[in-house]
Amino acid sequence: MESVESKIAVAVVADAQTGVVKVADEIAALIQEKQSQNKPCVLGLATGSSPIKIYQELVRKHREEGLSFENVVTFNLDEYCGLETDNDQSYHYFMNHHLFSHIDIKPENVNIPNGLLSGSALEAHCEAYEQKIKDFGGLDFQLLGIGRTGHIGFNEPGSSVDSVTRMVTLNQVTLNDAGPAFNGVENVPTTAVTMGVASVLQAKRIVLLAWGVAKASIVNQAINGEITNQVPATYLQAHNNTLFVLDKEAASEL
Ligand code: F6R
Repeated sequence: MESVESKIAVAVVADAQTGVVKVADEIAALIQEKQSQNKPCVLGLATGSSPIKIYQELVRKHREEGLSFENVVTFNLDEYCGLETDNDQSYHYFMNHHLFSHIDIKPENVNIPNGLLSGSALEAHCEAYEQKIKDFGGLDFQLLGIGRTGHIGFNEPGSSVDSVTRMVTLNQVTLNDAGPAFNGVENVPTTAVTMGVASVLQAKRIVLLAWGVAKASIVNQAINGEITNQVPATYLQAHNNTLFVLDKEAASEL
């Protein structure tokens, strides 16, 4: 593993699987440390293709090494608006499919934004989501991917550094990237509920994953560009405990 000198700590790994093992080991160690202190371990989780293998590795650790998630509380970053939770493109479905249905997490400890609300019910939900994270003492660890727009969560270009959980409109690039999974870009929900930039930056530890050459340009902008709301991932430069875990392709423009 190679470290690169930059504004954000970077670990360039030989391949995604090497990065997956490293990050899953860190998450498991944190869960066990909190267990030994009899405290909840509060994890912020992402969906999308980047973390899937992390979840597979955590499930393996649960099955083969007895890693327990009984003390784990999770907050997912985001959810599409308008998809029922059993829709196979919803992030509720994704998380159950890849992680929650395979481990011993307590259902009441799982938190995912509700994409089925509107108006004042949605506003109250977003406020309660933020408050619940605070009530748990904040996120101990936040796992992130990065969109080609530079979004973290669904904080698209234009998101402010003090943004919190809210409904957002997705960028056309994000809709295009999701198109194939929805059998056509016209089927992708155009809005979502996402934790804000401020919600993410409050985490005590942040690890962002990026695999593949399609992420190389935006990863370089996130790490080496000026901090700007046009590339929300640049806000991570102002966080003091963030690590980008990149395969060689994603790191190729650094
Ligand atoms: C998902 C999320 C998004 C994704 C990003 C990268 O919960 O918040 O920011 O992390 O769009 O997606 P993938 O990993 O599919 O390239």
